[in-house]
Amino acid sequence: MKYHVPFNQSSLQGRELENIFQAMTVGQIAGDQTYSKKCDAFLEQMLGVPKAMVTSSCTHALEMCALLLDLQPGDEVIVPSFTFVSTANAFVLRGARIIFADIRPDTLNLDERQLEGLISSRTKAVVPVHYAGVGCEMDTIGQIAARHGVAVVEDNAHGLFGKFRGRWLGTFGCLATQSFHETKNITCGEGGALLINDPRLIERAEIIREKGTNRKQFFRGQVAFLYAQLEVWQAIQTRRQRTWQYYDDNLRAWAQDRGIDCPVVPAHCEQAYHMYYLIMPSLDQRQALISSLKSQGILSVFHYVPLHLSPVGQRMGGKPGGCPVTEEKSERLVRLPFYNRLSQEDQDRVIAAVRQFQS
Ligand SMILES: Cc1ncc(COP(=O)(O)O)c(C=O)c1O
Repeated sequence: MKYHVPFNQSSLQGRELENIFQAMTVGQIAGDQTYSKKCDAFLEQMLGVPKAMVTSSCTHALEMCALLLDLQPGDEVIVPSFTFVSTANAFVLRGARIIFADIRPDTLNLDERQLEGLISSRTKAVVPVHYAGVGCEMDTIGQIAARHGVAVVEDNAHGLFGKFRGRWLGTFGCLATQSFHETKNITCGEGGALLINDPRLIERAEIIREKGTNRKQFFRGQVAFLYAQLEVWQAIQTRRQRTWQYYDDNLRAWAQDRGIDCPVVPAHCEQAYHMYYLIMPSLDQRQALISSLKSQGILSVFHYVPLHLSPVGQRMGGKPGGCPVTEEKSERLVRLPFYNRLSQEDQDRVIAAVRQFQS
């Protein structure tokens, strides 16, 4: 089906095509050359991290984290149930047991108030996900993790250029991962990065990454594409801020009157403007809204299915009712179209269609 307003759409933001042309003209088709290095250096300088490495995806970066932490079968890793499957899978692949944490009802981030109760003598890492680019409570998470000698790995797939208490997301954990998948603010189709904040891990990370080069990705020009987007990051973020604010200005009061919740951004978080979502009063109403928008040519989507209720999650002890906030929010959440070139006219269309919705 062709939608008038798709959920996501990639676009050129700057010098993507010139960069690809230049890379091909010079004849550099392997990874770790000019544009990979430029992207690594850009992330290091912007965020002030000791080392950044572009990878073929955020999943790849998460898998590198599991190797770097030297996880052994039986080790435990605490992951929110409300996340993309790679956040858990990367560690499951090394034999780790996932301990599923529930989320906060306001930001939908890992509930730091439950963290300490989930730590055992086998816990090796906790993986906070900055959902929608709004920071997790990193002060508390960092203190608890330090007290128990547990590594913090930030899954910052949504959060590039967001801040928590004035500090960039991705700079709190010993390791952090970024995604440049096509749905993200800054993209190259498929891509990611590993941020290494603990310098002791740099050397091994370089060795691990060399075994899985991004040669194919570079050949397709993805890193040259990515650098062009990073160069204009401020324009992209300003534009997305406007889009987010416009949804919020036009939907929050309407939603409040109908028992529909909008995103919560605490005052100490500068969000990354990754997504705009509504939390409908029930699963039925969520499905009805998605269908109603679809009938008007607008694609809205939901995610994530609680990981603790997946077949593997249940084998690891997950049970219905185990993460009640995750289960409830996951049934009710709907994401509205949000991409860099979303026109005001199309956004007006989405807003009008949402406001017309009668449950
Ligand atoms: C929270 C989270 N982590 C990891 C990923 C995986 O990212 P990638 O597709 O770059 O591997 C995603 C994908 O959307 C995600 O939402």
